[in-house]
Order: sequence, then structure tokens, then C-alpha cells
Amino acid sequence: MTYRIATIIGSLRADSINRRVADALIRLAPSNFDFIDVSIGDLPLYNQDDDANQSAAVLRMKAAIESSGGVLFVTPEYNRSIPGALKNALDHGSRPYGNNSWSGRPAGIVGVSPGGTGTAIAQQHLRSVLTFFDMPMFGQPETYIQWQADLVNEDGIFADGSQAFFQNWMNTFSTFVTRNLVHQKG
Ligand code: FNR
Repeated sequence: MTYRIATIIGSLRADSINRRVADALIRLAPSNFDFIDVSIGDLPLYNQDDDANQSAAVLRMKAAIESSGGVLFVTPEYNRSIPGALKNALDHGSRPYGNNSWSGRPAGIVGVSPGGTGTAIAQQHLRSVLTFFDMPMFGQPETYIQWQADLVNEDGIFADGSQAFFQNWMNTFSTFVTRNLVHQKG
């Protein structure tokens, strides 16, 4: 079967280093895995008043999550937490009450930062939310990545010294998804 993985990038920035890492990582996926880019930049600010009448952008995101067998989060750290845009997307997807689109889907987290902590604190905050959603969490290997200018080359490929690490991450993550698959519509 083909496994669909919803990919959520926590940065809205055009030249996002997290998107560059995500794109390079996805190139290493097994041939029976499709990674679907799920945009979050067009979502309105979450307002509980809208739960009974969610916007088209929210419904589009929820449908994309629900049609996936797993979720890959690739996110920067903002002020020692996750970016507001990502939290906004998580909140939208969790509602209306009783219809949480994230629940049960296996999740992997990757993050890259120019700083030495490599998004470790943001990832812990994200794990806290995803655990509340009852998403099986991919644990090892951890990916607290400090960005270096040559980490991803102009062709979108990891540098030689990093390629094996990311290939192992992808191999292990894809196996984790197949073992934890519960939902995948269609
Ligand atoms: C940052 N950055 C940052 N980096 C970090 O390691 N820990 C942090 O807490 C923060 N905080 C933070 C707050 C805000 C508002 C911004 C804009 C940036 C730096 C951040 O890692 C850097 O800008 C990355 O390039 C952001 O990732 P993208 O957008 O390139 O994927």
C-alpha cells in the first residue's frame, strides 16, 4: 500500500531552513510513501466561536490530515517554544470538540536552528501537545539539528556527512508509521 504522510512546516518564511531540511528529508523516503505538503499560513486565527462553521482553509487542512496515515512536523523554535502559526494549526485541527483530526496518527518531529540547542525546547513543547492528542510519537533518533550553511546543497541534497543520519531517520520513521498505522482515509 501507499502511505500518505501530511507534512507540516512550522515556518511561513519563504527561505525557511526548516523547509529546506524537510524537502531534503522527503527525498530519502521509501517509494511507497507520499509526503503531502499541508499549508498552515492561510488559516485564520483560531476562535472557538467558529467551531460550528469552520472556514474552507480549516476544512481543507483537516481533510488533508484525516487522509494521511501519519504526520511529519518540521519546525523552527520561536522564543523557546513552537511558532504561533503552528500552535494555531494544531488548535484548528483539534476542533470541534470530539472531532480531533490529529488523534491516533503517528508523528515525527524534526527541527533545525542556527543556534546550538537545535529546536530542542520547541520539540518538547510540541510533544506535549501531540501527546494530549494521543498521537504515537516517534522517539529515536532525535533530530535537534544546528543549521550549517552547507547542510543542504544547491540541489536540495544533504551534505555527505549528514546523509546517512537522515537516511536512517527516514528508514526508522517509515517503519514506525507502518507499525502504528490506525487511520488513513481513502
Ligand atoms: C527565533 N530564532 C530562535 N532560534 C532558536 O534556536 N531558539 C529560539 O528560541 C528562537 N527564537 C526565535 C524567535 C523568533 C520570533 C524568530 C523570528 C526567530 C531563530 C530561528 O531559529 C531562525 O530565525 C530560523 O531561521 C527560523 O527557521 P526558518 O524560518 O528559517 O525555518
